Amino acid sequence: MRAGKKRGKIIFSFSDSMDFAKKVAKLKHLPFYLIEVKKFPDGELLIRLPHNVNAKGKEAIIARTLKEPNEKLIEIFFAACALKEMGAKVTLVAPYLCYMRQDKSFHKGEIVSSKYMAKLISNCVDKLITIDPHLHRYKSLNDIFKIKTKRLTAIKDIAYYIKHRIKKPLIIGPDAESYQWAKTVAKIVKCDVLMLRKKRYTSRHVRIELHKNLNLSKVSPIIIDDIISTGHTMIEVIKDLKKIKAKKVYCIGVHALLVENALKKLNNVGGIVITCNAIPNKTNKIDLSKLVAENI
Ligand code: R5P
Repeated sequence: MRAGKKRGKIIFSFSDSMDFAKKVAKLKHLPFYLIEVKKFPDGELLIRLPHNVNAKGKEAIIARTLKEPNEKLIEIFFAACALKEMGAKVTLVAPYLCYMRQDKSFHKGEIVSSKYMAKLISNCVDKLITIDPHLHRYKSLNDIFKIKTKRLTAIKDIAYYIKHRIKKPLIIGPDAESYQWAKTVAKIVKCDVLMLRKKRYTSRHVRIELHKNLNLSKVSPIIIDDIISTGHTMIEVIKDLKKIKAKKVYCIGVHALLVENALKKLNNVGGIVITCNAIPNKTNKIDLSKLVAENI
């Protein structure tokens, strides 16, 4: 294939990310194929690409989000290597990019997993597209990826949702890391924004410091974070806001990992959870398939 010539695109996915990938394929009028995964009795994987697909000279887009990533990474590695061997260029669209919070050795001996996740992906695909990756200690994805990368953001979609659905918003970033999202959303919505201070003790134990003299009588507080995992960060904020008489507290997350019954726990303390469909979830109200379709 001559350099510079545009490749035809084909979209692949696995059953766990199929709905999102199909939406993108439909928006772009591209063929969609499902990659099958089976397990041998000993636990080894059998990956099957559709037998009627001709990937030679094409851009093969594998769309798969990376919640619970361990097996998914190895499956993507196998599929991407096979597609490359067939003569395709491979793009991975991972709406949620795993392991990015492990960007430092927090305790002696801990491995900085994000670096090696990036190494694995860089070794099997040509390009990575992701949405709001957790860039905290890294400035850009290319601090760890050796391939072309594209970083999309759900900020405009979140702001649009708030503008049209929530009256008198007050945006709250629960910690310094989330402030980059909170601040930009507030700027688009044209409302006030607060950044709180968080101290994390363990994965399930955080403490939040609320501003003194906060008056919530005329506003709808909306906590915004890139990731909602165990929900404890938001739970602590909601509890504090409720103490000072907040009525409805909205919780908006780009990546709703929602592990260990997080949704129930958030609802129990009065949180109204609204998430983007970067990860399949029943709380998803903000659709990012158009954002991805426009960028592949
Ligand atoms: C961390 O730095 C992220 O931005 C989130 O604040 C964090 O992952 C939320 O985790 P959890 O829901 O378990 O408190």
